[in-house]
Amino acid sequence: MTSNDLPPNAYRLPRTNQLEGLMTIIRDKNTSKGEFIFYSDRIIRLLIEEGLNQLPTIPKHITTETGEPYDGVGFEGKVCGVSILRAGEAMESALRECLRSVRIGKVLVQRNEQTGEAHLYYAKLPEDIHNRFVLLLDPMLATGGSAIRAIDVLLSKGVKQDKIVFLNVLSAPEGLRVMNEKYPKMKIITGWVDRQLDERNYIVPGLGDFGDRYF
Ligand code: URA
Repeated sequence: MTSNDLPPNAYRLPRTNQLEGLMTIIRDKNTSKGEFIFYSDRIIRLLIEEGLNQLPTIPKHITTETGEPYDGVGFEGKVCGVSILRAGEAMESALRECLRSVRIGKVLVQRNEQTGEAHLYYAKLPEDIHNRFVLLLDPMLATGGSAIRAIDVLLSKGVKQDKIVFLNVLSAPEGLRVMNEKYPKMKIITGWVDRQLDERNYIVPGLGDFGDRYF
């Protein structure tokens, strides 16, 4: 897979001039922390909105203020967010802006420097997560190692693969491929797909370490 084609479970935000401009700002090594936060937040908001577009709806009959009946829709089920710490926390406030009282769980996964393995340190999730759609939040999809640990926790709690939508700002073709092989029914929404990973597993051209630049 190259950065131009996507696995069937992945969707990339439309390459508008606006998105390319925002991505250029956050990639630039001369962008200040304040600007990095501001413009990343704008991209994250677009991702969250697109993630919500993916959730199924059911018919909802209401009466409008004029007294007229109206056949609309409402979300079909309950939704929660799960952020992969630390960088995923950067995506929580945009989710709260869109879904006011949304429950948000957290998963801490860290790479063991000796073995290179991603290790799960902590998970705090809503008890009824098996009944919810899950928006999984991590700005960077590189090798997919951390995401695999996080998704396996969700599946072990009874979340259905096709009820997970994984949102990330920037992804590498390697990570997208792994996600498709392991979780073909999970949806991925990504802001941009870059060329590849480098020898340190950074995305290139990339933007560096998202967590270091945001927090
Ligand atoms: N995580 C980051 O923050 N940056 C990368 O390039 C890869 C993973």
